[in-house]
Amino acid sequence: MVYYKRKEVWKLKDHNITSENSFNTRRDFLKKLGIGSILFSSTSLTSHPAFSSLYPPPVNKSYIAKRSLTAEYLATTYTNFYEFGSNKNIWRRASQLKTEPWTLTIDGLVNNPLVIDINDLLKKIGGIEERVYRFRCVEAWSMTVPWAGFPLNKILSLVDPKISAKFLKFETFFDPEVAPGQKQKWYPWPYQEGVSIEEAKNDLSFLATGIYGKHLPNQNGAPLRLVLPWKYGFKSIKSIVKITFLSERPIGMWEKLAPKEYGFWANVNPKISHPRWSQETEQQLGVEGRTPTIIYNGYEEQVSYLYKGLEKTLQDNLFR
Ligand code: MTE
Repeated sequence: MVYYKRKEVWKLKDHNITSENSFNTRRDFLKKLGIGSILFSSTSLTSHPAFSSLYPPPVNKSYIAKRSLTAEYLATTYTNFYEFGSNKNIWRRASQLKTEPWTLTIDGLVNNPLVIDINDLLKKIGGIEERVYRFRCVEAWSMTVPWAGFPLNKILSLVDPKISAKFLKFETFFDPEVAPGQKQKWYPWPYQEGVSIEEAKNDLSFLATGIYGKHLPNQNGAPLRLVLPWKYGFKSIKSIVKITFLSERPIGMWEKLAPKEYGFWANVNPKISHPRWSQETEQQLGVEGRTPTIIYNGYEEQVSYLYKGLEKTLQDNLFR
């Protein structure tokens, strides 16, 4: 993965971060006034009218990141979305993506395959919630953001996977006219990622439709993106159009390009360096100095059971 960073974005001072507490107090206050979703959208970059009534969603207080929130403008303007270019500053270009209407296909080894409009899907899911998660990019920067959405296991309940389904493959849209990065033929588009079915059932696995109390801006993966907070960020695929249940492990886009650098499991692990840099510390966006990286990004208690016994059978470079 070649990354061109916009330099020194993290050198922004403490006023660029918000404590979870003050974020929620401000949010509750605006909600009481009934203007949350209008005023709160100070940096809203796209609009998705069909979703407006869902925001801001109720907070699930079981998911508290114990870190200050990243400023909204950093999380929504310092983004990776290679379909729109290989630098971090693609948010304007990503606004070209039309996210309404949006159809999601769920197929493969399931008893009830679905081809469904995203709004109908949300109706079937029956509501969204907000969770604050840490997010750690493989490039060693990180953020802490309030996602809105629903647990991935709700999709499993809808489509009823067959016993033979062992993995899920996710796919992003393919439209080179809208997303100029997809004209670069050396990338094996469309962007794909995958998880094991056990990982998909874990309660942390989340499909996000929103961020900071409102719908996702395009650059963060509207209208639907995966969030796996214990894994490196490249697993959290954006703007999903298809989920396929498989018996064999899928190969993600980055894994196809550089299997030794972006392996399938990609769990956050400070002890296993990326071949080209250390993963021991990270740069939280908006925070001075570096922070030690924690195994599984701080979610060891919730996810370590998934990998018991796998250590020996997986190659080291795939087990990050
Ligand atoms: N999904 C798609 N479709 N295209 C991408 O380029 N980049 C990944 C991931 N999902 C990417 C993607 C990477 S490398 C990271 S770190 C996260 O998105 C970044 O999410 P954010 O931009 O919302 O912070």
